[in-house]
Amino acid sequence: MQLSCVVNGEQRMVDGVPAGESLLVTLRERMGLPGAKNACEQGECGSCTVYLDDLPVCACLVAAGQAEGRTIRTVEGLAAGDDLHPVQRAFLDAGAVQCGFCTPGLVVAAHDLLSRSAQPSDAEIREALAGNLCRCTGYESILAAVRLAAAQMAASR
Ligand code: FES
Ligand code: FES
Repeated sequence: MQLSCVVNGEQRMVDGVPAGESLLVTLRERMGLPGAKNACEQGECGSCTVYLDDLPVCACLVAAGQAEGRTIRTVEGLAAGDDLHPVQRAFLDAGAVQCGFCTPGLVVAAHDLLSRSAQPSDAEIREALAGNLCRCTGYESILAAVRLAAAQMAASR
């Protein structure tokens, strides 16, 4: 199967995608975008979260064929060249990254939250990130990272 879609602002075309392959595998193995992580492959952990037409999805649950003609944005596409997005920078500055396996999905989920709610409450942050599991941090530093990103984005407006 041939797949044609826009990924991180670039038109991409890949051949030989097996029917039924997940978008996650296609992104990682055929498009050179390993940011979205493959942890559970069952929609349980959120580590594979990417935007599909501006909505966050678990890429492990999306068949690559479903992305035909659509627009995908991965964690790699949030940065502006070498400049990290404030959400990415905040995760580093708040120490919210340990093994890092959950981080790309959390960054995309937090980015989505802050695009909808510039100053979310802790309850809103917890709800928005409820589908993203982290086995390392205990979540407090992740909450701190989202608060920090919100503050920095507000200050730069
Ligand atoms: S790898 Fe997709 S939800 Fe866990
Ligand atoms: S930092 Fe290791 S799973 Fe979250």
